[in-house]
Amino acid sequence: MEVIIRPTTEQAVNLTARLIADAIKAKPDFKLGLATGATMEAVYADLVKMNKAGEVDFSRVITFNLDEYIGLPPEDPNSYRYYMNHNLFDHINIDKRNTHLPNGMADDETAEGERYESAIRDCGGIDLQLLGIGSDGHIGFNEPISSLASRTRAKALTPATYVQNSIYFNPPESMPKRAFTMGVGTILNSKRIVMLITGAKKAGIAAKAIEGPVTSMVTGSAIQLHPNVVVVLDQAAAAGLTQTEYYNWVFANEPEWAQYR
Ligand code: F6R
Repeated sequence: MEVIIRPTTEQAVNLTARLIADAIKAKPDFKLGLATGATMEAVYADLVKMNKAGEVDFSRVITFNLDEYIGLPPEDPNSYRYYMNHNLFDHINIDKRNTHLPNGMADDETAEGERYESAIRDCGGIDLQLLGIGSDGHIGFNEPISSLASRTRAKALTPATYVQNSIYFNPPESMPKRAFTMGVGTILNSKRIVMLITGAKKAGIAAKAIEGPVTSMVTGSAIQLHPNVVVVLDQAAAAGLTQTEYYNWVFANEPEWAQYR
């Protein structure tokens, strides 16, 4: 794992967007795993800018989102399909037929999980999975005690996630209590993981996921099991880390980071 700490949120976001854009430039038919949430909005704004400036081409990119609320149709402003169209897909040269999210309206939940897993498998797997982390440590909607071997399935959301996300719903009680999510095992099958964590509120959970024990109580800690992970943090989110000096040395000295310094 590599941990990159940038002084500001803007710099952390921009580095994350550049990592994605550079990976797409190197492989135009890139399979990109995407996340939603407040943290990612700025990443998508940067990618839109880069696309409009001709710096990155999404015409052959295929995307798979981590999750979708159960019971929300795509046109619902709180659905993750709506979020993705609104924040990214409507503004870049991607073919929407190449953009995938679980179907929150699927009747057969087991079949929907299996369909999504097959779709990922059939296109050769995800090249890079973008991740945020929830206040309870979740990645995707893999809530505490989710199996670290789990696959795409329906999952009940915790009270902490309800507190984190119901502010976006009007009324807040209309937030669904369940969601489809890629499993931790699905996420660990991606070839590379880039996790972005910003803001002081995430400092405690960031330290647990990066430097704490691997545990299903903090599913974000499962990234420690993956051989190719970069976690990008702003200074505020990095406040609880103990090995900061080492992380900063790596970023300042290792050749792979030269172009991003
Ligand atoms: C959503 C997702 C979640 C979010 C997490 C953080 O697709 O994958 O794990 O990354 O809930 O959300 P924000 O960025 O809103 O704090």
